Order: sequence, then C-alpha cells, then structure tokens
Amino acid sequence: MNIIRRIYCRAFQAAFHVAIPFLPYHYPEIHNSLDDIPGILKKHGINTVLFVTDKGLVKAGLAKMVEDVLTNAGINFHTYSDTVPNPTITNVESVRQLYVDTHAQAFIALGGGSAMDCAKAAAARIARPNKTIPQMRGILKVHHKLPPLIAIPTTAGTGSETTVAAIVTDSSKQYKYMVSDFCLIPPYAIHDYRLTVGLPQHITATTGMDALTHAVEAYIGGSTTRETRRAAEEATNLIHGYLYRAYMDGNDAEARQKMLRASYCAGIAFSKSYVGYVHAVAHSLGGKYGTPHGLANSVLLPKVLRFYGEAAYKRLAKLARRSGVVKQGFSDEQTANMFIDWIQEMNDRMSIPHFIPEVREADIPEMAAHADAEGNPLYPVPVLMNKRELKNLYRLVVA
Ligand SMILES: NC(=O)c1ccc[n+]([C@@H]2O[C@H](COP(=O)([O-])OP(=O)(O)OC[C@H]3O[C@@H](n4cnc5c(N)ncnc54)[C@H](O)[C@@H]3O)[C@@H](O)[C@H]2O)c1
Ligand SMILES: [Fe+2]
Repeated sequence: MNIIRRIYCRAFQAAFHVAIPFLPYHYPEIHNSLDDIPGILKKHGINTVLFVTDKGLVKAGLAKMVEDVLTNAGINFHTYSDTVPNPTITNVESVRQLYVDTHAQAFIALGGGSAMDCAKAAAARIARPNKTIPQMRGILKVHHKLPPLIAIPTTAGTGSETTVAAIVTDSSKQYKYMVSDFCLIPPYAIHDYRLTVGLPQHITATTGMDALTHAVEAYIGGSTTRETRRAAEEATNLIHGYLYRAYMDGNDAEARQKMLRASYCAGIAFSKSYVGYVHAVAHSLGGKYGTPHGLANSVLLPKVLRFYGEAAYKRLAKLARRSGVVKQGFSDEQTANMFIDWIQEMNDRMSIPHFIPEVREADIPEMAAHADAEGNPLYPVPVLMNKRELKNLYRLVVA
C-alpha cells in the first residue's frame, strides 16, 4: 500500500479509536431462559411478533420451543424459517415484507449468526423503509431506532447478539458485506446453553474458532481499549479451556455454557475494536462460494497470523500469556509462534481442513477488491495491505 493511503488509513483508524468513549455502544439485556420472552414483550406492550429462524433449527426442534413459549403466553406470531447460511438480501426482504404484512411489533431471532443477522438487517429495513440494504452497506448508515429484537444464539459463535453488525449476501453479485451501526445492537439476548447442546460437531468446531478469530483480530488491531482487551483475553482463555471439550462431548454442560460466554466476550471485543483481514477475506469467500463463515475463518486464521509476522508478535504474545494459552518465559516471537501453533493444533484436532478447495485463481482479484473495500481504511490491522497484496492471503488457502 502506498504511503499516502497508509497515512489515510491510520489517521481514519486513530480518529475512530479516540472516539470510542464518546460513541453510543451499549449491551443487550441478557436473560437466561426462553420463559422470559413473554415478560420482555409485555413490558413493551407487544402482542404480535415475527419469529426469524432457519430450517436447521426447525429440524432440531428448537424453533418449536420458542413457538410453544409464545403460544402458551397468548402472543401472536408468524415464523420465517427460510434463512440460509450466509443470509441473503432476498431473505432480509422476505422477512421485512412478512413483518409489514402481519403487523408485527417486534422480532425474535433464534439461530446462529445467520438468523440473527437476517432479523437485524430486516429490522434496519423497517426502520429505514426508503433505504435499501446496499445503501446501508458499511458503517453508520442506519442511524434510526429499530423495532425491539430478542436475539437467541444457538451457536457459540458469532456473538451477533451483542454486536453492531449484520452481515448479508447480495447473491446476484456474489458479494457479502456488513451493515454496521450502533442501533443494530439487539436490546435483548437470551443466553441458554441448552440450545447449543445439539450443535453438530463440525459446527461446534468452526463456530468456536470464529469466536477465537474475533478475539484475536480485535486484540492484535490498533484500536483496543482496556475493556476489549479484557473481553478478548477472557474469550481466548475460555476457548482454550472449553472448545475442545464441547467438541468432544456436545452434552458437556459446563463447556457449552463457557463457550456461549466466550462467544459473547469475543463479540464485545470486536464490536468496539473491529476484526481484520481474516474476516474481510472470509466474507468474500462466503459471498463468492458460500463457504461457511466459521470454516473460512478457522482455515485462514493461523495462516494469516503467520503472514503478518513480526508486526503481530508483541500483541499476540501478550494475548497468549494473559489468556493462559502459553506460559511465561519465552520471547514475544516464540510466544506468538507457540500461540499460532496452538490454533493450528486445535484445527487439526477438530478435523478442520488446511485449505479451501473452491478458491479459483481467476476469482481472486474480484474477492481481493471486496476484502480491500471492507478492510480499508476501517480495520486497524497490524500490516496494511492493498488489493494487490491481499491477493496473497487467498493463495495461502489454495490447496
Ligand atoms: N453479526 C455479527 O457480528 C457476525 C459475526 C460473525 C459472523 N456473522 C455471520 O453469521 C453467519 C454465520 O453464523 P453461524 O456461524 O452462527 O452459523 P449459521 O447461523 O449459518 O448456522 C450454521 C448451521 O448450523 C445450524 N444450527 C445452528 N444452531 C444449531 C443448533 N443449536 N443445533 C443444530 N443445528 C444448529 C443452522 O441451522 C445452520 O444450518 C455468517 O453469515 C457470518 O458472516 C455475523
Ligand atoms: Fe466472524
């Protein structure tokens, strides 16, 4: 990246960093049981809701648990269960239309990041009926109060129940991008680890590594605060202690509970301190090939961290020591490399592949342009890269 653009990126990032204490970040009100839903709705005088989920959650019997709570409390609801992984603008527009047609007054989203983001983006469309999703791409373009939303994560995960972002895919352009604004932070979330016990093993693995990617990318960026560093350290510590346990035994209640907490902490960390190029590249792969988000991040994370090299050693080493992943007594370089080794070992133990076979050389320039548009100037990454340099990151995952 040339010096002028480099200065511009770093100045942009510094301005956002300085502004953090003055920006309207907030947290969802966390509840621990689906049984709290009627009380939340009653408080707002709501008696009709739109329930957004996906087919996998219907099949797993989890959607019915929410529907039963609503039915027993006499709350009118309509269910939208066609959300796809890497949710599309078509999904969002269908949800928006159903919300309007059924005179709903609030959203309930049950699922992983896909269902939650679909509902968040649809809520943005309700708040801004004259602005399309493409017009809200990027940061701070929604800027209106959204209808109430109760986010119920069933993966651990994206942390979407506490983040500023909704990630959507324009399938006509094979382009996946983020809509990000403070008003997208859900006002309510339900953390019930029992909803995650049936998560298939490979989804437990990749969504857990997505949470780790949030924590690591936030931590090694240049816009952390004491709060986001602590949140990232806690998330990393919990993932180190519990992800493999949750992977090995889905019914391990303690491990599931801790992973839900890890996902939430990592969400807090990156909501204020951003992610980095792992995510920018992963989103472009999701848009182009439909690569699951957690899988793309898991494969990319150790490779991109190695690619950053020396520029990331100090912060990676600090995270590694403070989270307890690597013991004291080694240099920053050694500690950072031991931390990256641990990430790769976690991938290997959980049968996460080393490569993403669908990546085609001919597609790389277009995807790198998307990653450039997402990452620059926003992400305070250790090493700035322009679209030509970003192409190298795709080549790391070509078999
Ligand atoms: N908004 C944010 O801050 C944010 C952060 C990271 C990722 N994301 C986005 O979130 C999406 C990915 O979300 P995800 O990784 O949670 O996966 P997902 O929501 O796409 O779910 C993956 C699959 O798991 C199934 N599933 C989920 N929970 C289950 C359960 N408890 N039991 C059985 N099956 C279950 C779903 O039906 C689905 O088929 C991507 O689009 C990604 O870009 C958003
Ligand atoms: Fe992510």
